[in-house]
Amino acid sequence: MKLHITVVAGDGIGPEVTAEALRILRTVAEHGGHAFTYQDALIGGAAIDAAGTPLPQETLDAALGSDAVFLGAVGSNKFNALPPGERPEAGLLAIRAALGGFANLRPAFAHPALAQNSPLRPEVIAGADILFVRELLGGLYFGRPREWNRETHEAWNTMRYTRGEIERVARVAFELAGKRRGKLTSVDKANVLEVSQLWRATVNELAKEYPAVAVEHEFVDACAMHLMNTPRRFDVILTENLFGDILSDEAGVIAGSLGVLPSATIGGKVNLYEPVHGSAPDIAGHGIANPIGAILTAAMLLRHSAGLEAEAQAVETAVRSALDSGARTKDLARGDDAQVLSTSEMGDRIHQALTAELQKQPQTV
Ligand code: IPM
Ligand code: MN
Repeated sequence: MKLHITVVAGDGIGPEVTAEALRILRTVAEHGGHAFTYQDALIGGAAIDAAGTPLPQETLDAALGSDAVFLGAVGSNKFNALPPGERPEAGLLAIRAALGGFANLRPAFAHPALAQNSPLRPEVIAGADILFVRELLGGLYFGRPREWNRETHEAWNTMRYTRGEIERVARVAFELAGKRRGKLTSVDKANVLEVSQLWRATVNELAKEYPAVAVEHEFVDACAMHLMNTPRRFDVILTENLFGDILSDEAGVIAGSLGVLPSATIGGKVNLYEPVHGSAPDIAGHGIANPIGAILTAAMLLRHSAGLEAEAQAVETAVRSALDSGARTKDLARGDDAQVLSTSEMGDRIHQALTAELQKQPQTV
């Protein structure tokens, strides 16, 4: 199969982890005789430095002309003083909007090998396996009006959703829940917000079409607590943009590190793949970032854009075996770990395991 991928590595650790993810994709393509082509483009702080804007037209054109976009991370302390609309993050929000994907899938599960990495007790997280479906194009991130009025010292943002925006992302969540354990938790703040009341009513309406899926509603504050108390009770969590942003970082605690969480954004013109972690400026450039989030994101690309389910699973298995064999980057290391691996050494370990995995699969060339 053929796939043209725009690579926007971005800022901070973005380029470091993206390099490892692309190495994995190249190996999969080579093994299966697939023609994956890659085009680098600028985004975020790197784009502001080079082109004066966080999302140059060239990047947008390349992204829209490709089959998938792989993004590393966006954000740099250098631009902290800029207003939101000019910051590196504005480039990320603009590319999300342009590509049109509204359903951001963020799987988070307890890796058995990382049970000791979580501050939560092993028996609390064991078996936890959650799929967040985060609405990505609405809510406070995009709602208007938005402003910081420097004269009156007031600022406001708008949380706004239409029924149609809720329905389309809820549909994705229902479909996915149907293929998993058949449970959907819709998270809102319907005790305070009208937007959440519309959200809840829309989800309940849609639930009639999916009798095999059990729906429950939770307030976001309660959900934040239940995620830590009883993470196993969740299957698919559907929620709006900001709640999803917050809860998915929290889920990093269940997985063992934010550095291992992947994401895929589907439903638009071109799918967008990005790890959940940010640009981590504090560790950027040291070669110590965890590439697992990016590598599992590559697996999601294989699954959702290339239709290569077996290969996606091979990558996931490779990550698991590297972790099982004790491979640890700094974020995963504990006092008793003999050796802490660099980003590329962790990439090597996963790569070796992947090669072994792929050998087990029938070769097409
Ligand atoms: C994420 C990030 C982004 C978001 C930032 C960088 C704009 O935190 O993908 O979770 O808030 O969506
Ligand atoms: Mn986030």
